[in-house]
Amino acid sequence: MALERTLSIIKPDATKRNLTGAVNAVLEQAGLRIVGQKRIHLTLEQAQKFYEIHKDRPFYAELTEFMSSGPVVVQVLEGENAVAKNREIMGETNPEKAAEGTIRKKFALNIGENSVHGSDALENAKKEIAFFFSECEIVG
Ligand code: CMP
Repeated sequence: MALERTLSIIKPDATKRNLTGAVNAVLEQAGLRIVGQKRIHLTLEQAQKFYEIHKDRPFYAELTEFMSSGPVVVQVLEGENAVAKNREIMGETNPEKAAEGTIRKKFALNIGENSVHGSDALENAKKEIAFFFSECEIVG
């Protein structure tokens, strides 16, 4: 087992419904520690840059417009196998397919407004954390 860090985003559909604390409770109860966290409002350009990997997908415009439509909470989560663990806790991208007890099953509205994002691999987690956080913003 390895102590890892992963990037999490609480998306605009969840911040709008005051679900930040409820999402954090699920993360913490599952053993993930929130070692960095800030509430920001992304510009469309920032959302486009963050999701550049999806730029050729049909939902790219919808995704980046949604992610810049309201505040998000960007977080660094730490724990044993944090990348895989967070993805398990989030559940499937499509909330209709998400397992009981997962964040998306509990809170997501649909495949786009799905309440949370989590890095899909350790290498991407490092890049995504660097995108949002400087070293002095994360508790060591
Ligand atoms: P996320 O983990 O943030 O990474 C990419 C996002 O694209 C994903 O969560 C979904 O919210 C979004 N997404 C994936 N598929 C679709 C789709 N078919 N329609 C709209 N959004 C989608």
